[in-house]
Amino acid sequence: MELPYAEPYKIKMVESIKRSTKEQRLKWIKEAHYNLFNLSSDKVFIDLLTDSGTGAMSDKQWAEMMIGDESYAGSSSFEKLKKTVKKITGFEYFLPTHQGRAAENVLFSALVKEGDIIPGNSHFDTTKGHIEFRKATAVDCTIDEAFDTSINHPFKGNIDLKKLEKVFKTHSNKKIPFVILTITCNSAGGQPVSLENCRQVSALCKQYKIPLYFDAARFAENAYFIKRREPGYENKTIKEIVKEVFSYGDGMTISAKKDGLVNMGGFIALNNYEVFKQATVFNIMFEGFITYGGMNGRDMGALAVGLDESTEINYLESRVEQIAYLGKKLVEYGVPVQQPFGGHAIFLDANKFVPTIPREEYRAQALAIELYIVGGIRGVEIGTVLADRDPVTRKNRYPELELVRLAIPRRTYTNNHMDYVAATLKNIYDTRHEAKSGYVITEEAPIMRHFTVKFEKI
Ligand SMILES: Cc1ncc(COP(=O)(O)O)c(C=O)c1O
Repeated sequence: MELPYAEPYKIKMVESIKRSTKEQRLKWIKEAHYNLFNLSSDKVFIDLLTDSGTGAMSDKQWAEMMIGDESYAGSSSFEKLKKTVKKITGFEYFLPTHQGRAAENVLFSALVKEGDIIPGNSHFDTTKGHIEFRKATAVDCTIDEAFDTSINHPFKGNIDLKKLEKVFKTHSNKKIPFVILTITCNSAGGQPVSLENCRQVSALCKQYKIPLYFDAARFAENAYFIKRREPGYENKTIKEIVKEVFSYGDGMTISAKKDGLVNMGGFIALNNYEVFKQATVFNIMFEGFITYGGMNGRDMGALAVGLDESTEINYLESRVEQIAYLGKKLVEYGVPVQQPFGGHAIFLDANKFVPTIPREEYRAQALAIELYIVGGIRGVEIGTVLADRDPVTRKNRYPELELVRLAIPRRTYTNNHMDYVAATLKNIYDTRHEAKSGYVITEEAPIMRHFTVKFEKI
């Protein structure tokens, strides 16, 4: 008999999670104004809201926490992290920040002006938020295949070179401070970008003298997909692939809460000394001195170890294959999900799951709420609520996809939890025709509304 796959780790510490009844959850979600962000964690059984900062650290990372150097300036933890960042990414200069959006805030403060255009592949919401906050425009150049959840393209995060060149031809390069390539592409379903695409985008950027930056939150998962799917890379190590990917860019921002394997942290790394100098000023203003940038010494030490661990094949295999395990179960049950499966999450296709709920009534949000009510599972809407309003017309933006993201925290849940999630969804799917109406917004913030928006049931 062929031996089944087993995780390359054992569990040293456990945390209890609470079960609840459907009646309790109906009450709690109403009190939370039908916004899953408003639920306290003890009201959630399996929390798939995000994979950001919610994973388990290793014994080696915890050991590093104990020897963190909390000196204000020039701590040894900073030096450790700086050395690791150089080793893993190859970028010359490095600035720690407290998380990913802080890195965006610092770098964009240095680079983005009103009226600028920033092309990319389905910019993440905080990235877009920081662009639009500066009255600049994010232009999505993702390949069309990304928007059809049933097409099995191996690199749905890729940029369409024709779309990108059209933007370059329409606007002067003085108006385009950089292109941002998100690896993997969260908003398109955790889909990877191929090395070939990195190379081609980089070449086009060079031709038009426009810098290329990576949003590298899930750079290690992206490298795993390259190793598994891109011809010529099957025998390369993850660290070799990562180095090659970054060699095509001028710099990166990262939320280290993902592939940094830490609960909090982020950084900027880049090659251009002038940009580094400008960003340094904003880092000191917004984050802290340049050798901690909002992070504790102990967190920087844990991040240095995390970056080394996340770029090892053993870890990545258990990580990405757990997502595929859940995905395969759902496909078996007929539940419509984004394919191929992403690196950090499974995305339910609400347009196919509950087409009976009108889009104006936030069908993906309605599905996420139902998943909580039936199983105590918290996912998140990646659809019209997240897409927010057009900054000029203030009308709802309707994205191509209405998704519910089930993000799996790293090294946190077992495959029994995945079985529970799949069974809950099967039960909802079997009664999907009964769903006829959704929700109406009663209160919302002017930007990034999804975190605090309030709904009423129609
Ligand atoms: C691709 C991507 N970029 C940026 C961010 C922002 O990072 P943070 O939540 O650490 O501010 C995230 C967070 O989920 C992300 O997925």
